[in-house]
Amino acid sequence: MAPRLTLLTTGGTIAGQAASAADTTGYTAGALDPAALIAAVPGLAALAVLHCDAVFSIDSKDMTPAHWLALRARVQHHLARADCDGVIITHGTDTLEETAFFLHLTLPPGKPVVMTAAMRPATALSADGPMNLYQAVAVAAHPDSADKGVLVVVNGQIFAGADIVKTDTEALDAIAAPGRGPLGTAAPVRFFHPPALGRTGCIAPHALAGLSDLPRVDILQVAAGSAPDLLTAAVAAGARALVLALPGNGSLPQAWQRAVAQARAAGVTVVRSTRTAHGRVAHAADSALPPATGALNPPKARIALMLSLACGQPELATALFA
Ligand code: SIN
Repeated sequence: MAPRLTLLTTGGTIAGQAASAADTTGYTAGALDPAALIAAVPGLAALAVLHCDAVFSIDSKDMTPAHWLALRARVQHHLARADCDGVIITHGTDTLEETAFFLHLTLPPGKPVVMTAAMRPATALSADGPMNLYQAVAVAAHPDSADKGVLVVVNGQIFAGADIVKTDTEALDAIAAPGRGPLGTAAPVRFFHPPALGRTGCIAPHALAGLSDLPRVDILQVAAGSAPDLLTAAVAAGARALVLALPGNGSLPQAWQRAVAQARAAGVTVVRSTRTAHGRVAHAADSALPPATGALNPPKARIALMLSLACGQPELATALFA
C-alpha cells in the first residue's frame, strides 16, 4: 500500500504568486492553497496518498513563537493518527531554520517529518518549489526516513532540520548546513550518514501543552561602538533572556560589561553568541562572562532559551550550548 502522508502548508515563497513569470522578487508569499501546490507536481499520486491541512498562509518573516506552538500541535495531531505515516511541511525559507530547530527539539523521532521550501515563487519560470515538494514527498515516503528527527529537503538534498541555516538572499541553494553538510540526496533517496539525534525531542510531548506563546527572549546585535542602551531597553521591555550576537568568538565589548552584569544580577539570562556566520563560540573559564552558545547561532540560541524558560529547565539550554 502507498504511504499515507499529510501535507501541512504554512505559506512561503513555495506558495508565492507574482504578476509575471519573470518576477522572482515582487510576489506575495503564501498566496496559493495546497490544491494548487499539488496540481503543479505531476507524479505525486504515485509516491503517496496525500491528505492536506492548510495551517497558515503567511510569509515566514511573520512566523512567531505562537505559530510554532500551533504548528507543532497540528503535527502531533497528524502523527498520532493511525492512518498517517508521516508529514511534509511547506514553509518560507526566511525563518525555516527557526521552525525546523523548534520542531527538532519538541517532536520525538518516529514517523518522518520533512520540511520543504522554495526560493522562487510558484508562478516563476523554472520555479524550484514543484521539484522540492516532489522530493520532500519522496523522502517522507521512504522507509529510511523514520526515526531521523525533522528533515529538510531542498535543492535535491536532505538535511537535518537542526543543522540548516539560510546562507544567501537569492541563490537557489540558499539553505545549507555549514560545517555538517547534507545527510543525503533526495533523488534517489539515499542517506549517507545519520543525523546527530542527541537532543531530538528533548522537550516532552506534554511539556508545552496549553501554552499559546513562549517567554520573551531578544537578540541584540553588537557592532563596533554600539551602546549598551539596547540591552537596558530590552530588559525594561520585559525580556527574560538576551542573546548577544557579538563580534568574533563571542567577544563582549568593555562598554557592555556593566550593563550585562546588572541585567544578570536582576535575573535576566544573558548569553554570548556570535554575529559571525560560521563557527562555535568557545566557552570561557572566566565565570564573570555570560555563557557561550557553543554551536548555536543567535536565532537557535534564542529558541533554546525560550524553551528552557517555558519548561522551567535552565539545564536544557546549558546542554544545548555544550
Ligand atoms: C518566506 O520566507 O516566506 C518568503 C521567502 C521564501 O520563502 O524564500
